[in-house]
Amino acid sequence: MPTEKWRMALGRILNAALKPLGYYIGKTSVPKLTEGWDDIDFASLGLDITVREDVFEDDRILTRGQGEFTILADDLQKIIPPDGHKGKKVLEIGPKTGEHSRWISNSLEPSKFTIVELPMRKGEYDFLDSVNCDHEVVYIDIFQSNELKDKGPFDIIFCLGVFYHTLEHVKLLRHFRNLIADGGILLFQTTALKEPGSFLRLTWEPERAGNYLVPTVEAMFTLLAMTGWNQIEWFRNYRPLAQAAIVTCRKSSVIPKNHSGFEFGRSSV
Ligand SMILES: C[S@@+](CC[C@H](N)C(=O)[O-])C[C@H]1O[C@@H](n2cnc3c(N)ncnc32)[C@H](O)[C@@H]1O
Repeated sequence: MPTEKWRMALGRILNAALKPLGYYIGKTSVPKLTEGWDDIDFASLGLDITVREDVFEDDRILTRGQGEFTILADDLQKIIPPDGHKGKKVLEIGPKTGEHSRWISNSLEPSKFTIVELPMRKGEYDFLDSVNCDHEVVYIDIFQSNELKDKGPFDIIFCLGVFYHTLEHVKLLRHFRNLIADGGILLFQTTALKEPGSFLRLTWEPERAGNYLVPTVEAMFTLLAMTGWNQIEWFRNYRPLAQAAIVTCRKSSVIPKNHSGFEFGRSSV
């Protein structure tokens, strides 16, 4: 097994070797991938968006994170700087191998760290290695996790790479809004289509029991607005070649209502 040091070195060599290709791809297809973004009418959605293009100067060939992570753990500190975010109550959904869990534990030193993962993953990974802070893992489907209400409210919620795995986007965002503390931050990343327009692409693989509902970037913002999120920072140029979007959000003071006067995703059936 290569050591972490060797893997990093290999990653750097590959990145350097592929850089000219990335430059070429970047020159030809990145503008097309982001076509339409400037036309998103945030004001009509009631959204207050800050585009953060100052944080990452990203020309890396990262269509996915190294080691398949949605965001490199080292990059988290640029979005949630440990200074000012230490000692908080933190919730993470879907840690998989725990790369982000370890960063959260070591860098944010949460006062309480709650981790939610699917029961089928129990025993699959050693993701708790090096998670040294006071923590609890709840092996439960996030959609069955009403008990989290008793463990919150949470100051920071990490939802990285989970959103597009579900069909129940509105319900999920509504659940997070109910779990977050006033002034709390949702760090949210999803696979996203970079075509212009507001729509979602559905795929279902019955043999793997897997489904994906991938929003365009505009649809992602629309869903956030509909479920009462605002004050959004959009890290628009993070990994420009990746089909993904990353934002931080806070809960808005008002939750939008549908025609019947109910919040979206609130249902009695
Ligand atoms: C693509 S991985 C993302 C892993 C990691 N968070 C990252 O950013 O690289 C999706 C993770 O979400 C978990 N997951 C998917 N659906 C879930 C659900 N309904 N409830 C809880 N966890 C879920 C999966 O088990 C997996 O760990």
